[in-house]
Amino acid sequence: MVNQPPKLIYKGIIERFREYLPVTDKTPIVSLLEGHTPLIPSEYLSEKTGLKVYLKYEGLNPTGSFKDRGMTMAISKAKEEGSKAVMCASTGNTSASAAAYACRAGMKCIVLIPDGKIALGKLAQAMMHNADVIALKGNFDEALNMVKSITSQYPITLVNSLNPYRIEGQKTAAFEISYVLGDAPEFHAIPVGNAGNITAYWKGYKEYKQVGKNTQLPKMLGFQAEGAAPIVRKKIVEKPETIATAIRIGNPASWKQAEAARDESGGLIDMVTDEEILNAYKLLAQKDGVFVEPASAASVAGMLKLSEAGYFKNAQGARIACTLTGHGLKDPNIAIGNVKEPTVLDADLKVILKHIGF
Ligand code: F0G
Repeated sequence: MVNQPPKLIYKGIIERFREYLPVTDKTPIVSLLEGHTPLIPSEYLSEKTGLKVYLKYEGLNPTGSFKDRGMTMAISKAKEEGSKAVMCASTGNTSASAAAYACRAGMKCIVLIPDGKIALGKLAQAMMHNADVIALKGNFDEALNMVKSITSQYPITLVNSLNPYRIEGQKTAAFEISYVLGDAPEFHAIPVGNAGNITAYWKGYKEYKQVGKNTQLPKMLGFQAEGAAPIVRKKIVEKPETIATAIRIGNPASWKQAEAARDESGGLIDMVTDEEILNAYKLLAQKDGVFVEPASAASVAGMLKLSEAGYFKNAQGARIACTLTGHGLKDPNIAIGNVKEPTVLDADLKVILKHIGF
């Protein structure tokens, strides 16, 4: 029938969780139908750890990372407030998401990225969505300081996770996990960079418990990269370095909130080496069929590290949700550089059959 309205069954995180979010009937909702990402059970990792492991695959959001949950809120509220331009510092994913949502809202988007240190896919996204991309000769922490200074003086809305609406949107991932499992899991593993996401999940879990949707809270297990682990080292890292460029951050904006999530939940924040990250990255791709970007694998790398150290020995059978923050296609160079190259063969049936073992 020609004139039937489209059946929009799912309308994005704001509509789904409206009662838990600071929006009103007047808020113009800018959405790409983000959220509602799968919670994939991992048989392989469950067997390896003795836990029930679930992978929250946030790479399946519209721009390929969890940032979209926060960005639908930040951009909708910016539009409600009449803002014409938004700005962020980014290791890549925030800029991709901000650029996409700003386009949809008809706003200008300016992004500051560390020159040469963002993954190719993310750069392509920000450029394709027509952001004003400034490659800063400096790192993320320096970029964020610039953005804070500019947005506090000029009429441009900051959409880094210092913007409280970002955290509000991102907390919905904890709601979704709780909904699927019927309660909060016993543990939640998550990569930590600027520390907004661990803050958001913890807020989400607490709110669901307050309203009686959950009976328990998870222990929050956050993981930084060894070369960018200020919270673990209790000290700003001036020159952070890691292969996981998304979390190459030396002075996280939500440092205190991350510590609060850790301490209130009885969890921990630890670090994993680049080697451990790459190992988990490959295991996820090759055992579970889940392709994530390197930073995302920090949650699984951390869980495996703790498992090997006996951390879960009295918690066998407990549920753990691991957030996989971004899609593997974001960073094709790391993927191609770390696995076997394609075999180049002549277009000859015999040669190909021989190669595949016949
Ligand atoms: N994983 C990915 C893929 C990320 O892009 C980020 C952060 C994190 C984990 C860490 O999350 O900062 O909330 O602790 N990326 C930001 C960006 C910094 O600019 O895209 P966090």
